[in-house]
Amino acid sequence: MNTQKTLVIGHRGAAGEAPENTLGSFALAVDQGADGVELDVHLTKDGEIVVCHDLSLDRTTNGTGLICEKSWKEIQGLDAGSWFSESFIGERVPLLREVFDLVPRGLLINVEVKHAYEGRMEKALLAFLRESGRMEDVVISSFNHKVIHRIKLAEPEAKVGLLYAADLFNHAAYAQQIGIEVHSLHPHHHLFEKEDAAAASAAGLATYPYTANDVQDYQRLIDAGVTGIITDFPARLKKVLGA
Ligand code: G3P
Ligand code: CA
Repeated sequence: MNTQKTLVIGHRGAAGEAPENTLGSFALAVDQGADGVELDVHLTKDGEIVVCHDLSLDRTTNGTGLICEKSWKEIQGLDAGSWFSESFIGERVPLLREVFDLVPRGLLINVEVKHAYEGRMEKALLAFLRESGRMEDVVISSFNHKVIHRIKLAEPEAKVGLLYAADLFNHAAYAQQIGIEVHSLHPHHHLFEKEDAAAASAAGLATYPYTANDVQDYQRLIDAGVTGIITDFPARLKKVLGA
């Protein structure tokens, strides 16, 4: 039985109950008592960092085309809520800055870098985080481990996490081999066992498996002793935790 507090990290806010990566979704996660939120970032043509999962606007807005081919002015008026439910009409694609303004200081913000944009995303993100004064609250993760490597070398204060969906022989050993100080592992939750969590913890690594939504999966991960669980349903996880 694990007695350590398991952190609740709202995936794209509370994406099971609100349109992902919108201010409404992040507000709901915070209201439900999440300990942190996960979000995805892209760069506009004019260098603004926006919060959206896909490279393109097609799936989650009433616009079309690649984010990197649009200016912020072209994106800011799009509807990012009505695809999910009519009750969310008026939700927009937020700037990263707007999400930081909404999420209280001290809550964890897991920024997932979806694309490198030839190194421009790393520069823009680090400039933003330095100016925000909230480097301590943030974990930067990516499936692109070269991006994570470059970010850590450019900014030793940044906390970085490895995101992956591989069934590794030794998760902790992989993190130790890539030549930077890794803060956390972000494995697919189906591919992370109790012994993996124990080895990671012994190596000083935090663990944030994604994206678990079922009560049985929550319980397995809690019992494994993971640091936190990334979930679309923060309130459901809070209930399982008895919080
Ligand atoms: O960061 C965890 C998880 O969000 C990674 O997958 O596709 O939901 O961004 P995806
Ligand atoms: Ca993500």
